Amino acid sequence: EMPLLEQCYNLLDFEAVARRVMKKTAWGYYSSAADDEITLRENRSAFQRMWFRPRILVNVEKVDFSTTMLGTPTSIPFYVTATALGKLGHPEGEVVLTRASQKHDVIQMIPTLASCSFDEIIDAAGPGQVQWLQLYVNKDRAITQRIVQHAERRGCRGLFITVDAPQLGRREKDMRTKFTEQGSNIQDGQVTDNSQGAARAISSFIDPALSWADIPWFQSITKMPIVLKGVQRVEDVLKAVEAGVQGVVLSNHGGRQLEFSRSAIEVLAETMPVLREQGLDGKIEVYVDGGVRRATDILKALCLGAKGVGIGRPFLYAMSAYGLDGVDRAMQLLKDEMEMGMRLIGATNIAELTPALVDSRGLFSH
Ligand code: FNR
Repeated sequence: EMPLLEQCYNLLDFEAVARRVMKKTAWGYYSSAADDEITLRENRSAFQRMWFRPRILVNVEKVDFSTTMLGTPTSIPFYVTATALGKLGHPEGEVVLTRASQKHDVIQMIPTLASCSFDEIIDAAGPGQVQWLQLYVNKDRAITQRIVQHAERRGCRGLFITVDAPQLGRREKDMRTKFTEQGSNIQDGQVTDNSQGAARAISSFIDPALSWADIPWFQSITKMPIVLKGVQRVEDVLKAVEAGVQGVVLSNHGGRQLEFSRSAIEVLAETMPVLREQGLDGKIEVYVDGGVRRATDILKALCLGAKGVGIGRPFLYAMSAYGLDGVDRAMQLLKDEMEMGMRLIGATNIAELTPALVDSRGLFSH
């Protein structure tokens, strides 16, 4: 039988419950990653190669971990990243994540391939609540332009263009559990073949021809800050600065795309010294996602120079197992962990999180 919500003490606990209670198809789609899932595992183990160098005897009676992302204030430096097909896990879908995000003053990234319609997710938000749009770029640019400009009109505050998925990765766990769900918000009825799992069924519209040359066009159709999601090397971060975008998400798509991609935290450690050296660290906001499960992971990323981190699967698992209460508790647990983590490393606010507080020598040796 099902453990009580109060028995979930951290984000990994939700995963253990979800694995037991979720429908096979949904579990297959949410949990799967590319090929042998080496990168999926590396996303967790990379964080475990980093250690803290805490400061002692700092007055940490009051700690404040509020911050800003893309210019908007938020309560804690994580956001709910875009994950497709919310209704596989919960009948109400993504709006559950919206409501929990509202309660906790957390930013939500809305996926192109949400199960709820875009407007339902926007309408579910409270006054002043900040949402971003994740964009899969359609071969038909007129469709993409409509989506982007509609999002801007509806108040989205950031455009995250996914750049690591010219083709969907091979996720065999997902392929084995033949995708048969209906009723998701798939653009222009482009659901095709469902024999290859959920991921393949919904993604045939994505344009593999997307390139750097397209970036000025996006800048011409929207005033939203633009962030490239899925950057994996410092050379491309430098190109992103040159292209004049406001941010990058260092990410391997939760291990779901290119197998043997490095972890985002490792790419961050490669990137920030180069940006600082070239005086570019104020020119672009750098985010990371993949494998963030503990506030100590968030702290490690921020110490290395990330502006914030994205969290995906844990909220899907919490939602699938316990609905809104589950996501609410998952977010609260992260806030509790964050307060404790800040105190124990001796930082009273986000600005005090610097490379001096971490030992990342082991990060590159594996
Ligand atoms: C994703 N991710 C993703 N990314 C994206 O740009 N568009 C999308 O539609 C999706 N869909 C999606 C579905 C599911 C089920 C997962 C697990 C992930 C990737 C996501 O935004 C993010 O990069 C990873 O999920 C981060 O890793 P964790 O937190 O899941 O370990």
